[in-house]
Amino acid sequence: MKIAVTGTGYVGLVTAVCLAKIGHKVTCIDIDDEKIETLKELKCPIYEEGLQELMQEHQNDIIYTTDYKKSYKENDVIFVCVGTPEREDGTANLNYIYKVCDEIKEYSKSDKVIVIKSTVPIGTNKEIQKYMNKDSDTTFNIVSNPEFLSQGTAVKDTLNASRIVVGTNDKNSKKIMEELYKPLTKPPYNVPYLSMSRESAEMVKYASNNFLALKISYINEIANICEKTGANIDDVALSMGYDQRIGKQFLKAGIGYGGSCFPKDTKALYHFCKDLGYKLQTIEAAIDINILQRQKLIEQAKKDFESLENKKVAILGLTFKPGTDDLRESPAFDNVDILLDYNAIVNVYDPVAIDKFKAIYKNKVNYYHDIDNTIKDCDFVFIMTEWQEIVGYDLNKYKELMKTPIIYDGRNCYDLEKIKEAGIKYYSIGR
Ligand code: UDX
Repeated sequence: MKIAVTGTGYVGLVTAVCLAKIGHKVTCIDIDDEKIETLKELKCPIYEEGLQELMQEHQNDIIYTTDYKKSYKENDVIFVCVGTPEREDGTANLNYIYKVCDEIKEYSKSDKVIVIKSTVPIGTNKEIQKYMNKDSDTTFNIVSNPEFLSQGTAVKDTLNASRIVVGTNDKNSKKIMEELYKPLTKPPYNVPYLSMSRESAEMVKYASNNFLALKISYINEIANICEKTGANIDDVALSMGYDQRIGKQFLKAGIGYGGSCFPKDTKALYHFCKDLGYKLQTIEAAIDINILQRQKLIEQAKKDFESLENKKVAILGLTFKPGTDDLRESPAFDNVDILLDYNAIVNVYDPVAIDKFKAIYKNKVNYYHDIDNTIKDCDFVFIMTEWQEIVGYDLNKYKELMKTPIIYDGRNCYDLEKIKEAGIKYYSIGR
């Protein structure tokens, strides 16, 4: 089966490399020359565990190219993995998808199966099918195949996926997709394969991401009540998780969710429902709670200090979660911006994303490559990401190096007893 994957972001590149891993020949397309040149040198443009090694292992099974005209002509199955960013009004912007569809339509000379991996509002696949087959000599069958990978564990999440969800509207595409994913549904992977309508598949993606975002906002609200009542969210969440109907995962209270999916997908589903005349109240609340949660540390610091002007602040961790260099929708932005508005002096540290952050903030903040120098002589520290380097940091050093050892921890990295022993003034979430 000849497969093309268009878009080499987190989803596209991981999909392409994993399809090669399970035995397919894959053409990986992007319009960004620089990115394709990097990929041709077998260098991975994103920080994602195990990806570079797999790229090297399967270098003979993947072609990296900007030549979409040839690629769309020569391949039978085309995976569309381009972004569906948020529009200003919160709805999903489908322009990149339609641009790719136009190009596929123009340059394909035979029937194609188009697999939409990008997250799209319910009904989009059907619309695309109508759009592509209008006044066309070739037949395009559109398949919905949403992606559930998490950044940082993307390769594992693809090869050992919780499930493969495929929505089709015709027998031929259904058969092709079953064949394509067969290696993953057999040992050693044994991934459950779920076949359904395209609308259901589109809905699974939004419903799953929105549910997880809702779970995080819920536990964050419970954490806020814990703070007011003397309960400890760690004990509460742990005990809740023993109930298998609730489950242990996604009950970690913190500074709020970020990343390329939850903020965008919650708003997209909310606005999609609004257009249908339905007010999605649970998700509206999850979004509002998350906005407030991201400002919790700064609100506390404002209460604790008379003024933040000229206070020297260290920000430890910049990415929206550990294991990735992605800064999209990171709570670090909200907090750095507010600190700068208050004329605080901001030092930042992150083990992998310093250069990316520098490209945005330029000389507005000070950049460091280790924790010692970042916190030196600081008035207080904000922890934004639970990187291992931060979680495992020697607590005594905060006292040794800082002007005043005060930590506002947005990720509950430290044990309360140990913090007390180290003589640090500590504020964390829900404890
Ligand atoms: C998410 C989904 O998990 C994945 O299935 C989907 O395909 C894409 O979106 P990702 O954005 O990579 O993946 O990260 P995830 O691990 O889900 O974390 C998202 C955000 O939620 C992070 O900011 C994280 O810190 C936060 N989070 C997660 C919590 O605050 N508490 C938790 O218990 C879990």
